[in-house]
Amino acid sequence: MIRVENVHFTYPGGTKALDNVSMTVEPGGIRAILGRSGSGKTTLLMCLSRFLEPQSGSISIDGRGLVSLDEVELRQSVGTVFQNLHLFPHLTVLENLTLAPVRVLEVPENKAKEQARDALERFGIGGLADAYPASISGGQAQRAAIARGLLLEPRYLLLDEPTSALDVQTSREFAQWLRTLREATTFIIVTHDIAFARDVASSGVLLKDGRVATEGALETAVLELEGEGAEDREGDRAGGG
Ligand SMILES: Nc1ncnc2c1ncn2[C@@H]1O[C@H](COP(=O)(O)OP(=O)(O)O)[C@@H](O)[C@H]1O
Ligand SMILES: [Mg+2]
Repeated sequence: MIRVENVHFTYPGGTKALDNVSMTVEPGGIRAILGRSGSGKTTLLMCLSRFLEPQSGSISIDGRGLVSLDEVELRQSVGTVFQNLHLFPHLTVLENLTLAPVRVLEVPENKAKEQARDALERFGIGGLADAYPASISGGQAQRAAIARGLLLEPRYLLLDEPTSALDVQTSREFAQWLRTLREATTFIIVTHDIAFARDVASSGVLLKDGRVATEGALETAVLELEGEGAEDREGDRAGGG
C-alpha cells in the first residue's frame, strides 16, 4: 500500500502545489488521480516517485519510507511514465526498453533484450522493436513507454496523462488494452480525462487546488470534478459536459 500523509510541497517560486495531501493506494487494480489543470497532480506524482521531495509530511510504500529506499529498491517500488514519455529518439524501441534493466538492475544485455522482446510482443507491438520513436504512432509510443516501465517490475507504475497525445478513438483502445493487462503492478493514472478515467479506473482521488477533495469510488470523484464546471476544463474528452 502507498500511504501519503500530510504532504506539503511548495515550489521555489512560492506556488503551494500540495497542501496537506493524505491518501492511500491499495495494491491491485487501476486507480485514478483526477483534477483540473494546475490542481497538483503531476507534483504529487513527482513526490510519489521521489523526483521531488515534500517540505513536510511522509510517503511510505508497502510499509517503508520512500526516503529510506536505495535507488534500485525505489525503482522497483514505483515506476513513472512521464507525460512526454521520454523515449530516447536516437535509440530503437528495443534499446529504449533495455537501457534501464541493463544499467539499473544489471540484467545481462541478452536477457534484457529477450525480456524486452517478450514485453513488446505481449503489448502487440513486437514488430516495432527495431523502429525509432519518431517513426511510430502516439498509441504505439505510449505502449512502448509502459512496456519499458513494467520491465523494471515496479509494484506501482505511475502514468502521467497517458492519453494526452492520443485521439479519442485511440484513447478508448488504449483504455481497453490497459484493462486487459494482468500485471503484478498496480497502476496509478494521473488524468484530467474523465472518459478515460471511467474506462480504466475503479477508484479515484480528486485534487483541487493542491488538496484532496474526494477519495474513494471513481464515480464520486468524477461527479465532483464535473461539478467544478466544464467550460475551462482543459481538453475534456468526455464531451457534452
Ligand atoms: N516547476 C514548477 N515551478 C513552479 N511552479 C510549478 C512548477 N510545476 C508546477 N507548478 C505549479 O504548481 C501547481 C500544480 O501544478 P501541477 O502539479 O503541474 O498540476 P497538474 O499536473 O494537476 O496540472 C500549479 O499552480 C503549477 O503552476
Ligand atoms: Mg500535470
